[in-house]
Amino acid sequence: MAKKLRVGILFGGRSGEHEVSLLSAASVLKAIDRRKFDVASIGINKAGHWLTSEAAQTLLKGEAEAVQSNVALGGLDVVFPVLHGTFGEDGTIQGLFELAGIAYVGSGVLGSSAGMDKDVMKRLFAQAKLPQVPYVTLLRAEWERSPRKAIAQVEAALKYPVFVKPANLGSSVGISKAHDRKELTAALRLAAKYDRKLVVELGVGGKKAKAREFEVGVLGNDVPKASVVGEIVPGKEFYDYEAKYLSEGSVPVIPARLSKAESTQIREMAVAAFRACDLSGLSRVDFLMEPEGKRRIYINEVNTMPGFTQISMYPKLWEATGVSYKDLITRLIELALERHAEKSRTIYSRD
Ligand SMILES: Nc1ncnc2c1ncn2[C@@H]1O[C@H](COP(=O)(O)OP(=O)(O)O)[C@@H](O)[C@H]1O
Ligand SMILES: [Mg+2]
Repeated sequence: MAKKLRVGILFGGRSGEHEVSLLSAASVLKAIDRRKFDVASIGINKAGHWLTSEAAQTLLKGEAEAVQSNVALGGLDVVFPVLHGTFGEDGTIQGLFELAGIAYVGSGVLGSSAGMDKDVMKRLFAQAKLPQVPYVTLLRAEWERSPRKAIAQVEAALKYPVFVKPANLGSSVGISKAHDRKELTAALRLAAKYDRKLVVELGVGGKKAKAREFEVGVLGNDVPKASVVGEIVPGKEFYDYEAKYLSEGSVPVIPARLSKAESTQIREMAVAAFRACDLSGLSRVDFLMEPEGKRRIYINEVNTMPGFTQISMYPKLWEATGVSYKDLITRLIELALERHAEKSRTIYSRD
């Protein structure tokens, strides 16, 4: 029998999505095919210390005071960074894996950071001619230097309601919907705490209606495939942090109630977005739709390390497409090795 592959499952991390990562990792550790893989748990606590074995287990259980132990990526064939947000999904840890020459699940440095930055992501979408809502990007410095000018710039380009977002966060943290100038001021002030770059977007659905939200799973490297489309029905005015993780008001509908043409369009857009951002492995691609009239569909964002519990949208979309959770994990590890092998063919020096 062939030697089992040594897989490191990385979880926790310094981002605001630490807890979400623990939930995803616990699911992965439970489901991963132990006949194929020898599994090592590697936890990163909120202070950024790396923990292995028992210390990692205590962190997984939410006991933050775990003892630090030395961590090495050595001896592993591949790592699965089940990390969301800053320092996990933004290319930084991917850079560490590149330096260490180790295979890893998901997108590389460039794709991860492009997929994290809503401003850069939108520029790549525009270049790929993907339909998206009009938006304005402001630097925190510009907002702080002249709030009046920043607001005039937003009001000249967009109609209320608008969505104000820090460019580089996830899980709806720091995001607000603003219905007028007063709310816009508060929203910019809040978002400016979280990032040096702020994105303001036209609200889909306008004053009267709520946008419909669709999500698609993309899986693959150079030949990515799209899952069936799912719809999220947020219980609240928008899909904020609480609606995402805390309340039970958000119901997924899989497959989404859409015409065949609409779902084909969304799936094609998802693959185009994956390519536009130079992603690999996996991504959940999210869309917004005008609920009435022409039912226009806009791309919202890509998520390079989407929520990954067994009941999260990404695994559920693949389950509905015919790939079980266990097989999905195996496939992602295979894709990581495939990408690593493909990259290893590249020559980095002249001799
Ligand atoms: N332009 C928009 N129009 C309507 N709703 C939006 C818009 N942008 C964001 N939202 C709502 O806010 C939520 C969070 O925004 P999103 O850009 O997806 O941020 P995050 O990266 O934190 O998930 C979306 O799921 C949706 O409910
Ligand atoms: Mg989102």
